[in-house]
Amino acid sequence: MINYIDQIELEGKRVLMRVDFNVPLNDQHEVTDDTRIMAALPGIRYALDHGARLILCSHLGRPKGERIDRYSLRPVARRLASILKTDVPLAPDCVGKDVEEMCRGLENGRVILLENLRYHKGETKNDPDFASALASLADVYVNDAFAVSHRAHASVVGVAERVETCAAGLLLKNEIQYFNRAMENPVRPLVAVLGGAKVSSKLGAIRNILNRVDKIIIGGAMANTFIKASGTDVGMSMVEEDLIDEARRCMDQAADRGVKFYLPVDAVVARELSVDTVTRLAPYQEIPSDWMALDIGPASLNLFSQVLYDARTIVWNGPMGAFEYEPFSRGTMGMADSVARAHALSIVGGGDTDAAIHRAGVASQISYMSTGGGAFLTLLEGKELPGIKALEGC
Ligand code: 3PG
Repeated sequence: MINYIDQIELEGKRVLMRVDFNVPLNDQHEVTDDTRIMAALPGIRYALDHGARLILCSHLGRPKGERIDRYSLRPVARRLASILKTDVPLAPDCVGKDVEEMCRGLENGRVILLENLRYHKGETKNDPDFASALASLADVYVNDAFAVSHRAHASVVGVAERVETCAAGLLLKNEIQYFNRAMENPVRPLVAVLGGAKVSSKLGAIRNILNRVDKIIIGGAMANTFIKASGTDVGMSMVEEDLIDEARRCMDQAADRGVKFYLPVDAVVARELSVDTVTRLAPYQEIPSDWMALDIGPASLNLFSQVLYDARTIVWNGPMGAFEYEPFSRGTMGMADSVARAHALSIVGGGDTDAAIHRAGVASQISYMSTGGGAFLTLLEGKELPGIKALEGC
């Protein structure tokens, strides 16, 4: 059992809230996508409205323990201040005397942001001294950083073990509840759509999902390995030869469990991956030996859309092709449309899938867009997130 932020007393407490402000910045050091900041707002506003002295902390990028200015959270503090219409001072660091003083001087209902946690090696190592230094800043710890909860880092795990009261924030609560609605107690049929380049990065998720879903759709380059495993040559398409046997085992397992397993039947093919290359459509059986599949074709999109039309719950992670290149984007864009139109609870996770949904302009028709990439995949693998486990029993 874990506590949620709306079950604990916040008035007058120094609340250390771990958020994920790992947002993209441009060369001018401006935030180019504030989705993660916006996602953290309900938890931040809740804490401020309930009189917390709010200390926000986050990582940005991977500075590996070095104080590198381009990883400073300064642009995030500015953006947050303009959204909240209040001052959001940026602390000079995330631990140390000056920071302690700033935290002590914070008034009820006011907020500060600590500087990048990963300026210290102790963060990613979950170093006990670093975790204690962070914990000493606060009376209460709140984890509202779903997207980093698969990391056993000091600000995610170590602090929770050292602060007397800890809780999950509103974003984390939402993420957990939506995921559980989809995977633990779904309205059926439950359809999983998995895509992306590599089977190797999704194998754990496929194995786990086979125990839960009614149907599974595989797209993206990873589909090639499955298609080759079922005896069809795929030309020059990317294939993970060492996983062909494993792919066959997954399909056998699906058959044993009565899980319908859908693979693309046709593809957009080309000789190279570039925007101005010549493309053709080909049934998988007819991909020329020196061409490669770079997107699902219209027949596959049609097939997959039929499956989605009947779904009552959909979980989607990973694109159907190399959608960042316009000639290979139609499959992923079409799937985004079909997921959006389905009469189903739809949960979408992962950076690429999220980008595709936004590009297709259908974000408002998706039931829940997870903020997690690695964390979402870890849940799909059926594993517990260290950041959630750490909140149990405190
Ligand atoms: C993410 O962007 O997925 C999270 O912020 C985690 O970042 P990391 O992969 O650098 O730990």
